[in-house]
Amino acid sequence: MQVFREKKPLIEAIQKEKSNGNTIGLVPTMGALHDGHISLVQQAVQQSNQVVVSVFVNPTQFDNPEDLEKYPRTLERDLELLEKTGADIWVFAPTANELYGKKIKSEHFDFDGLDKVMEGKFRNGHFNGVGTVVKKLFETITPDKAFFGEKDYQQLQIVRKLTEKTELPVEIVGCPILREDSGLARSSRNERLNSQNREKAAFIYETLQKTKELFGTKSADYIHNWVSERFENYPYLELEYFEIANSRTLEKINRKRKGNQYRAFIAAYADDIRLIDNIALDN
Ligand code: PAJ
Repeated sequence: MQVFREKKPLIEAIQKEKSNGNTIGLVPTMGALHDGHISLVQQAVQQSNQVVVSVFVNPTQFDNPEDLEKYPRTLERDLELLEKTGADIWVFAPTANELYGKKIKSEHFDFDGLDKVMEGKFRNGHFNGVGTVVKKLFETITPDKAFFGEKDYQQLQIVRKLTEKTELPVEIVGCPILREDSGLARSSRNERLNSQNREKAAFIYETLQKTKELFGTKSADYIHNWVSERFENYPYLELEYFEIANSRTLEKINRKRKGNQYRAFIAAYADDIRLIDNIALDN
């Protein structure tokens, strides 16, 4: 494993790999790695000759300075986890100034409305920040493939839109959600849940699975009401949103149409910890 703090030596090393005909796979992360991240790294190892994992807590995607400050920074532990994969991974862990230069600012993107719903509604400027940093990482690392989790499905669609609009020559690979045994989607935030809430949070995925069952026979309105009521009667979690949306455009469903694919999305709080999850409804 090699750790790069600066762009220049990394770019040189990548150019060397490419001139030998090797492909580059990129896994962008903000660190505090867990098995969910590692599953992306494993995909990348299978599909590329050289894997680069970026570990960078991106300031421009936080709408709240306190969240940015509180975000866990655990590089030593992250490196140990990556080491355990047994693959020869390059880690890119720059400072904000190294990646952004002097001005740490978001670019503004037109994501054709993908950023106006769900996470975009509740987190101001978040996706412009994600787009800005992902574009910088793509330009610096010039990966053949980049790997993103379906855990953040809206982010995955936004990154796809970004590459379409900027015409950057990178293939975006979406990877399945890794879950705990209870069904709870893996997240660094799960560590902050107390043991009762961690158990009770499995309710989110149970709700999504039941949504999928109901989706065969019931209308979206019916399912919305059913989910709202279910959360109202469950004291451990507070529902922020439940949506059924077109998997590609993320537009709210009106009427089911043949040939379209749909997904259900949930954001909910366990005390002050915000959890998100989603499920494909058509397969
Ligand atoms: P981060 O939250 O660290 O997540 C990095 C990647 O890991 C994302 O693509 C995310 O979807 C994926 N991931 C997280 N939990 C997962 C799980 N349980 N199963 C599968 N994949 C999972 O997402 C970000 O960082 C940032 O926004 C970033 C893209 C790095 C830009 O700053």
